[in-house]
Formats: sequence, C-alpha cells, structure tokens
Amino acid sequence: MVEKKNLLLGICGSPRKQGTEYAIEYALNYAAEKYGFDIEFWSVRNKKINFCLHCDYCIREKKGCINKDDMEEIYSKLEEAKFYFFGTPIFQGNLSGQLKTVMDRCRAMVAKNPNVFKDKIGAALAVGGDRSGGQEIAIRSILDFYQQNLIIPVSGGAFGANLGAGLWSRDMGKEGIEKDEEGLRTIRKVIKRMVEFKK
Ligand SMILES: Cc1cc2nc3c(=O)[nH]c(=O)nc-3n(C[C@H](O)[C@H](O)[C@H](O)COP(=O)(O)O)c2cc1C
Repeated sequence: MVEKKNLLLGICGSPRKQGTEYAIEYALNYAAEKYGFDIEFWSVRNKKINFCLHCDYCIREKKGCINKDDMEEIYSKLEEAKFYFFGTPIFQGNLSGQLKTVMDRCRAMVAKNPNVFKDKIGAALAVGGDRSGGQEIAIRSILDFYQQNLIIPVSGGAFGANLGAGLWSRDMGKEGIEKDEEGLRTIRKVIKRMVEFKK
C-alpha cells in the first residue's frame, strides 16, 4: 500500500445527501485541487452505527470495539488519515446524534492505542437551517472531541472562520449551501490553515 502522507478524511454526519455532504465534498475537492491533499469521504448516511454500550470491552481487551457494524470500515481510515474535516448538520442546536455516536465509538481506538490520534490535525464544519442555529456550538463539540483525543484543532482564524466553517442552508439542503458563498469562503479559509501542517 502506498502511504498517503497528507490524507484528509472528510466525515459527513448527515443522514441525507444534502447540504452537509455538499459542504464536506466541497472542502475535500478544494483541498485536493488547490493544495494536492489526498482525500477520502465517508458518510453516516445509510450506515448501521450502533451506540457505544459502555461495556468496557475495549478497555479490558484492547482489541477495538465489541460492536461489529459499519464503523469497521472507518476505523482504519481514521488511523491512516493525518487530517480530519468532520461535518455535521445542526440538530437541536448541536451536532447530529449520528456524528456523536461515531465520536463515542472512537473510544475503542484510544483504549487500544492511547496515541492513535496524537498530533493529527482536525477541523470542523456545521450546517444549520438557521443562520445562528447552533453552528458554533456544534463546531465546539467537534473541536472538544479533537482536543480530548490529542488531535490538534484548527480553524480558519479571525475575520470569518473563527472556530471553523459555519454554513447556512436556509433549510434548502444542497441548493442552500451552493448559494451560501460566505459559508463556502469559511471552508476555504480552514483549508488554507490546514495546508500549513502539510508535509
Ligand atoms: C431533528 C432536526 C433538528 C434540527 N434542529 C436545527 C437547529 O436547532 N438549528 C438549525 O439551524 N437547524 C436545525 N435543523 C435544520 C438542519 O440543520 C438543516 O436543514 C440542515 O441543512 C440539514 O443538513 P443537510 O442539509 O445536510 O441535510 C434541524 C433539522 C432536524 C432534522
């Protein structure tokens, strides 16, 4: 297998092929075309992802998660990637339950190898139906996950993408995001910052 030193993994936390998926794919394509990142996309859409049961099998056995479901296809990608762009739709003012479950299930990776995520680079993107529907809270939740697991959280910086990429779909899904030029600009700002960590 050829090692991909600059693999950027985009994870979409929306159950639909709409605004969030469009935004993550926009980010990946921009990163690949403008800056030469290797890219992979993965979505929770149509996937079977069980809740963490807190059975502590992962802590006791250090062999990963006891659940055997569609998370198995993403564990190796999470290990392989150096960069992450997690994206979520806003549900009830925060990230989707689907993305939260993916994060909870990452506990099994850390139980097996406490440094599995160490010094990787992570950014966050959130798509709300309202302009201020909880995007910053959801982004913060993703950044907290990064920080807790030794991933270096990055944003696009002041004057536009303060915590990460915030987008407004006006509840019009993909079509809404295609028209959200300001939101798409926040994605470009985040990618520009990520490039500084590229080898
Ligand atoms: C259960 C549920 C809760 C939602 N709660 C919010 C919310 O609190 N704030 C908001 O801005 N939009 C909320 N929305 C709207 C979605 O965030 C918005 O339509 C978004 O574009 C969905 O992402 P998608 O385009 O990737 O499907 C909610 C949608 C659903 C289904």
